Amino acid sequence: MAKNKLRRFREMEDFPNCLQPELSPQGVGDFEFRGKWRSDYFKNDHPIVLELGCGKGEYAVGLARKYPNKNFIGVDIKGARMWVGAREALEENLNNVSFLRTKIDFIAQFFEPNEVDEIWLTFSDPQPAKPRKRLTSRLFIERYMKLLKPGGVIHLKTDSDLLFESTLEQIEEHAYPLLECSWDLYGELPEDLDETTREILEIKTHYEQLFTARGSVIKYLRFQIH
Ligand SMILES: C[S@@+](CC[C@H](N)C(=O)[O-])C[C@H]1O[C@@H](n2cnc3c(N)ncnc32)[C@H](O)[C@@H]1O
Repeated sequence: MAKNKLRRFREMEDFPNCLQPELSPQGVGDFEFRGKWRSDYFKNDHPIVLELGCGKGEYAVGLARKYPNKNFIGVDIKGARMWVGAREALEENLNNVSFLRTKIDFIAQFFEPNEVDEIWLTFSDPQPAKPRKRLTSRLFIERYMKLLKPGGVIHLKTDSDLLFESTLEQIEEHAYPLLECSWDLYGELPEDLDETTREILEIKTHYEQLFTARGSVIKYLRFQIH
């Protein structure tokens, strides 16, 4: 393993904003903050927002700066990427953001029903050969149903037509309320959009910057699942 990665892994063990529970093939077992993220981890009663497949966590950190009265959790299996966002949050004393290193497949083991208010999916892998592994497949949406509270929203930002279309198919097939849908986010941002929403939609993740440099068109949608 590259030296830099090893150094980051070691440092992350001492980061107070990173949780790296041990996983077995069945998942995590009893997780200490399940049902207690607000009371025992964040020590407040603010809403909880997840960024799933967060990579370096640009949305988790960017939103935490804007919304001190919400709690953000970036989730990814790749620790060396997560280190970037976690260190930034520590340097800025952002106490409303943390990072959970785990497989999203087990996400329902980390939260109780209704514990989560909102989910962001940022440039998730489109998984062309493995549709069930897409973070908006039926399988994953059923997992989110176990933790997202009724009326909670899911945001998807992507460059991938395949992921965008397959998500729209799920939405149509299951009649989920579609709240927003843009095939060209930056081409279509309405002039009268409020400043905060504009700034949020314009947060650019690492992958977004790579894809944009290649000329990809960025798409965005927001929907509910119950
Ligand atoms: C294409 S990258 C996007 C990263 C970041 N959101 C961005 O926009 O720069 C997809 C990320 O999702 C993570 N990921 C994909 N499937 C996952 C899973 N089942 N469990 C945990 N992480 C996953 C990968 O490790 C990777 O960091």
